[in-house]
This record gives sequence, C-alpha cells and structure tokens, in this order.
Amino acid sequence: MRVLSVVGARPQFVKLKPMVNALASFGAEHFIIHTGQHYDANMSDVFFSGLEMPDPDINLAVGSGSQAQQTGEILIKIEGVIAEQKPDWVLVYGDTNSTLGAALAAVKIGAPIAHIEAGLRSRNRAMPEEINRVLTDHASDLLFAPTQLAMENLTLEGLESKSHLVGDVMADLVRSERDLREANRLQFLEITGAGRYFVATIHRPSNTDDPIRLKNIVSALSDLESPVMLVVHPRLISESRKHGIVLENGSLQVINPLPYLSMLNLLGNSAGVITDSGGLQKEAFLMGIPCTTIRMETEWTETLAGGMNVLNHSLENLNEVTQRRVDNPNTVPFGDGHAAEKIVQLLVDSQSRVSI
Ligand code: UD1
Repeated sequence: MRVLSVVGARPQFVKLKPMVNALASFGAEHFIIHTGQHYDANMSDVFFSGLEMPDPDINLAVGSGSQAQQTGEILIKIEGVIAEQKPDWVLVYGDTNSTLGAALAAVKIGAPIAHIEAGLRSRNRAMPEEINRVLTDHASDLLFAPTQLAMENLTLEGLESKSHLVGDVMADLVRSERDLREANRLQFLEITGAGRYFVATIHRPSNTDDPIRLKNIVSALSDLESPVMLVVHPRLISESRKHGIVLENGSLQVINPLPYLSMLNLLGNSAGVITDSGGLQKEAFLMGIPCTTIRMETEWTETLAGGMNVLNHSLENLNEVTQRRVDNPNTVPFGDGHAAEKIVQLLVDSQSRVSI
C-alpha cells in the first residue's frame, strides 16, 4: 500500500508521528509532503527531529498569506505531486489550510482521501478551521473520527457510511511517549517548581488580531497570582509588536515555541493551562491538568466533563477560574491508544472499495 501524508502546520506534525510508526510496522510505502505553511525551525523542524520522524520527502514552501492565498498555493503546488506519486491513499490531518488545500486537489484528480480527526465541529463558521473541517469531511472517501461525538456530527451530515470511530491519534502519542517526555524536562522547572505555575498559549486570529481584545487577554494573564509561562506563537509576537503590547509583564514570562515533548513536560508539571489551542485542551485533559479555554466554544466538548476544561471568553474572574479544583472524569473518550493501527487496517480493508 502506498500512502501519501500531507502536513504543514505544527499540530499536524504531532498527528503524523503515530501514523509514521503504524504505517512502518505494516510495511506500507509512506511519502510525506510538507506544505511549508509553518516554516520557522521551532515551528516545524524540531517536531520532526524531536519525535524521531523521517524528514518530509518534499516541501512545497507555501509560507504565509491570506486564507485564500495560502489555500490556493497549496492546491496549485500539490496537484502535480499527488498525480506523480499515484498513492492508494492521500491522508489529510486535522483542520488547517493544508488539510483543505490537499483534500481539494486530491478529490479533483480522483485520488482517494482519508481524513484523520474527522467530525469535529465548533459550529462557529467565522473560524477558518471550521470551514476547513466541514469541506474536508465532505470531500473525503474515508473519515476517521476520534470520539463518539465526532461520529454523531458526521452522521448528522449524512456521512456515516464512510465514517469509522477509531480514537484519537494524539492520545496514542500522549500515552506512548511518557518516558521521552520526562527526558525532555525543562531546566527552569527546577527553579519554578512543579505545580506552581500556569502555562498559556494564545494564537487564534479572533484573540490576536483585534488589539483591544489582545490587550485585555495579556492584561488578564499578567494579573494572575501565579507565574504564567506564555509559550508564544509567531502570530502573537507580530500582533503584539504591531500594537505596542508588552508581553513580558506582571506574572507573564515569555517562552519561545517549544518542541512537542518539552511542551508536554511543561504542561504535565503545571497547575493548569490557559489557551485557545485545540490540541492543548485535549492534551491537558489526557494528563489530568485543568484547562481554561479563552474561546466562546470548543470542538472538543468531551473535555468539559467534570470541569476539566472551562470556557472563559469573557476573562471574568480568570484568577478564580484557573485556581479551581477539578475531578478527573471517569471516562476517557479519546480511544485506547491504538487509533493509528486501526486506521492502517481500515485503509487496507477499504482499498479495493474506493475507485482510483
Ligand atoms: C494554523 C492553523 C490552526 C492551527 C495552528 C497551529 C489554519 C487556518 N490554521 O494557524 O488550525 O491551530 O496553525 O499553530 O490553517 N508564522 C511564522 N512562522 C511560522 C508559521 C507562521 O512566522 O513558522 C506566522 C506567519 O506570519 C503567519 C502567522 O504566523 O501570518 C500565522 O500562521 P498561519 O499559517 O497563517 O496559521 P496559524 O495561525 O499558525
């Protein structure tokens, strides 16, 4: 079986890792396309080296741009590569512009597509990721849902016949890399002390691109009573500079983007996380760390169980909210840690049923 994976942004490198392992164990040929959506070494290369993955076979170097420019560049540049490689499956991951660009290019030349992390919905169509999710699910031939709720979303849209509940590939990784995570323990943890600091990340355009909103978020974080390790995304840096908003302020300590296992280590030793990232909400849940999400809604509604994750768009009482006590939920809705193996088996079983 010949599989072509398309990745381009940070969360996709993480989802790729369990698939690299599972496809290698099966003996599949695996060709990796990096679209180049994320290009800084600390947003891209460190994920491949840190997670011990092979370098991508090709990098399309699309870089930054508007939503349409970025998606369009990917669409144009990837078509020829897919046509030349003639894969049995094009695997697309998550909800970025790289996901949609690849799915559109593949469906238009009749290459079979499978979508990993299908069925997520925030029901907020102002998010570019929501549009990417819906369109990718409808363009794909096989849909791999991480949770029962995702399956229900796919059923509501009439997509159940091509959908499979497999569990979450990120949960595969969080569970399997415990030892490596410890090996990546960050030095400053010894100084600050486990359980005595919060981790924060902010990168959604809805939180960064309006200077008043950004100022309010930075101010609320800097007022928290414990130290806050703000792991910065390039968008946060550029928007705060543009509007003269100082990040290193009050409780806030700025940390450059971290390799994945260092980030998990920082998270796992924290008192809680404050974020607008999708992946971190889930990682916090899996590691039993309280999460406060600076958004109006979440596509990972399972994480709200037992108050493990709380939505706080208004930033009201942020100090009290972050300091809350949480009960670990009884159920773990993200699968048994073997999602990637199930995906490979389904790709094999479905190969003959999809016309190329
Ligand atoms: C993208 C995904 C989002 C994911 C996030 C993880 C879309 C629509 N969004 O958002 O789902 O949660 O990645 O980070 O695809 N930049 C750099 N260096 C880099 C990468 C980006 O400087 O290596 C800057 C660029 O100036 C760019 C900005 O960061 O304008 C945002 O990057 P972009 O690729 O547009 O999307 P993200 O916000 O990272």
